[in-house]
Amino acid sequence: MKKIAVCAGSFDPPTAGHLNIIERGLQMFDELIVTVAINSSKQPFFSPEERVALLQDIFKDEPKVRVDYLDGLLVDYVREKKATLILRGIRTMSDYEYEFQMALANKSMAPEIETVFMMTEGRYSHISSSIIKEIMRFGGSSHGMIHPLVEAKMREKLKG
Ligand code: COA
Repeated sequence: MKKIAVCAGSFDPPTAGHLNIIERGLQMFDELIVTVAINSSKQPFFSPEERVALLQDIFKDEPKVRVDYLDGLLVDYVREKKATLILRGIRTMSDYEYEFQMALANKSMAPEIETVFMMTEGRYSHISSSIIKEIMRFGGSSHGMIHPLVEAKMREKLKG
């Protein structure tokens, strides 16, 4: 049976840490659906369509990656796509509590779906989408923290 995983996140913007988790996840699954999802507690910088377009561009040469958009519950989406796994990255202990809560909530709604956690590589553990937005808004360098395509798109958007 094909092992299909879903890596859902706000990806606003996708960081080098996200991309690293996705690339490493590709070694473990036959297909990885990278899905832009809505975290209703966050104020968006990029629209969901812009985030999907960016991720599609970044992974255009990776046949095992499919980029998509989700507006609803993650577990319903995972079932609909006939996937069985959710892939998440964990950076620090503070991520753990939040991730643990989400994984348990998802597990209680869909016991057949497993959440797989991957430790973020040390060099990315300080990065977050919020930090990137802060750096870019104040004209700093985000070299090595985001993909060049993401950086270009953010600069374009900030110029207005
Ligand atoms: N390296 C660097 N940074 C990372 C990272 C990594 N490997 N993994 C996560 N991050 C950062 C992100 O940059 C982001 O930073 P921010 O808080 O400054 O934006 C943060 O960690 C987590 O963001 P992200 O991974 O993009 O996901 P999220 O926590 O915003 O998204 C959803 C959570 C979308 C998966 C969740 O809200 C969801 O499933 N929504 C759908 C509705 C649903 O089913 N809700 C019930 C869930 S129980």
